[in-house]
Amino acid sequence: MKRRQVAWILSAKILLILLLPAMAAENDRADVGLKLAEKLCARCHAVSDEAASPHKDAPPFRTFASKWPLENLEESLAEGIVTGHPDMPAFVLEPKDIDALIEHLHSLALKEPARQ
Ligand code: HEC
Repeated sequence: MKRRQVAWILSAKILLILLLPAMAAENDRADVGLKLAEKLCARCHAVSDEAASPHKDAPPFRTFASKWPLENLEESLAEGIVTGHPDMPAFVLEPKDIDALIEHLHSLALKEPARQ
């Protein structure tokens, strides 16, 4: 094997070793987000890939990513969504919880890009 090839394989392996924990951490956060959504939001919203929300007016979470950039939602969550939410208590979430929730929404969008 040529020296350059060896170097390339080595650096690819190192890259993988560096990236894997980051990817796993992202999955963990999405998982935390799902748990949080199940606890706080699932009473009204379909928070995972269920067909319909328990509350007929509450949009399923998997539709969020196609409605607005999820970053906008991050902002609204940080300020506390109140408007347009007549039946819902205003939530005040920690930044790390918002992060986890948004991560979960991203992972839903990746799973079901086309379904509404
Ligand atoms: C008691 C029921 C209830 C709970 C609990 C609830 N929601 Fe809602 N949510 C609603 C309803 C009803 C709507 C639709 C409001 C409308 O269309 O005016 C809604 C709409 C939304 C919207 C869209 C807002 C908009 O302006 O269009 C977002 C985002 C949202 N909810 C996030 C959440 C999150 C995140 C949680 C958990 C932290 C949560 N909701 C918990 C009832 C609820």
